[in-house]
Amino acid sequence: MVINRRDFIGLSAIGLFGGLALKGCQGFVSQGSVSDGAAIAAIHRSKDGLLEIDLTAQYADLVLAEQAMSQMMTYNGQLPAPRLEVKPGDRLIIHFTNNLNQGTNLHFHGLHLSPAQDNVFLHIKPGETYTYELDIHPNQRGGTYWYHPHVHGSVAEQLFRGLAGIIVVRGELDNIPEIAAAQEEFFLLQDFALPNENSSHMNLMAGREGSLRLVNGNYHPTIEVTENLLRLRLVNASPSRFYNLQIKGQTLIQIATDGGALAQPKAIDQLLLTPGQRAELLIPTVNLPDIPIHLLNLPYQRTQMGMMGHQATQVVEAIADFKRAAKNYSTVTLPEAFQPIKPLPEPEQTRQFRLNHGMARGHRGGNGHRGGQMPGQGMAFLINGESYSGAVDTEVTLDTVEDWEIINTGTMDHPFHVHTNKFQIISRNGIPEAAIAWHDTVLVKVGETVKIRMAFQHFTGETVYHCHILDHEDLGMMGKLKISAPQNS
Ligand code: C2O
Ligand code: CU
Ligand code: CU
Repeated sequence: MVINRRDFIGLSAIGLFGGLALKGCQGFVSQGSVSDGAAIAAIHRSKDGLLEIDLTAQYADLVLAEQAMSQMMTYNGQLPAPRLEVKPGDRLIIHFTNNLNQGTNLHFHGLHLSPAQDNVFLHIKPGETYTYELDIHPNQRGGTYWYHPHVHGSVAEQLFRGLAGIIVVRGELDNIPEIAAAQEEFFLLQDFALPNENSSHMNLMAGREGSLRLVNGNYHPTIEVTENLLRLRLVNASPSRFYNLQIKGQTLIQIATDGGALAQPKAIDQLLLTPGQRAELLIPTVNLPDIPIHLLNLPYQRTQMGMMGHQATQVVEAIADFKRAAKNYSTVTLPEAFQPIKPLPEPEQTRQFRLNHGMARGHRGGNGHRGGQMPGQGMAFLINGESYSGAVDTEVTLDTVEDWEIINTGTMDHPFHVHTNKFQIISRNGIPEAAIAWHDTVLVKVGETVKIRMAFQHFTGETVYHCHILDHEDLGMMGKLKISAPQNS
């Protein structure tokens, strides 16, 4: 990776990659350029069943991590983008303007919306406006969702330049007094290329990753924890980067996945969050040491060893610090269980989806690196041997249940995402999933088969499923799903 050394000067004396290798985390005192806290997004909450806002996709020159970043793509000029908070049954109206010089649109990742309202095939041209009118379903589960552009071919680029924001649906967990009293922090995890970081050196085949790795637009923020319980709501809005999170010596309590609350809190040592995924963690303050603690990002190998040089620089790094305020904390007793999650009924049908990559069809001689082309072009990402064409790939019937076996026959991990309806994970490599939870994005590792179960409810129409490594999606690893009304003749 070619990065001008001077690019780092404003950032920190330690630098972005190597210097943050914690090697056991001792001797890690102060970084010099740690910000005071994670920036807070502008918050828009629904009132009396309605949230109506103006949202403009526009360029902005920003200073991120003391680094001048020009021509970032933002919503309303802000990074992090505005955070929207709604309740089940609300109406969300977004007066959207595209002030970019390229087409864009909005997708509402994880929300159970009609495909007509959450229309990813829409192409809003430069200078055009569009009004999104969304009916948040009365049965929408509370949880952490997000919005981002979804124009096939430019999704990775637009997220990599900033376009992503959080949508919160208040629900079950928010009504538990102990959790409602917690200090709630949202972490929108993004990574960007530094100004001189040559994008042609970014491996589009593995999926682009940038060296500027930010939490809510801040580099390595320190969060002061003032309540007895910290509720951390994480969104991986990076196009390709996986986050493998840990607080050394601390058990993390996971309370929610992509689809909201788990049936009971789950103690974990590490949280692997792939692009597109969200999770909620609780961290009791009383357990924290007096010194600031690091939220670490541990290395994770998401491509087969030796296949791509791109990930060779992986080290243990801290992405945020937490420190206690000067006060006394008490222990919080959490409920042992939340609302039970009902397993979906047996499927009517089972389908298979094989994920792999190969040369794009129509490339004469399979020459993927013709003059001036970016690496990765000429390479196609495939589902069942087909690259996304715009034609319907999978037709299902409303009010039926299906099992989908997602089979990774390639050499890279693929986080598989389905729009419109969430799913339950049944098994991974034939091993039944220990606890039922709701998801919209699931990691399918190299060589793995993951079986998911989905009920197609409430909405007919055309939507998509795809790999959430967005370069893979842009290079074809997407399929069109048509949900049809039953034929009752
Ligand atoms: Cu974040 Cu099609 O998805
Ligand atoms: Cu989505
Ligand atoms: Cu992929």
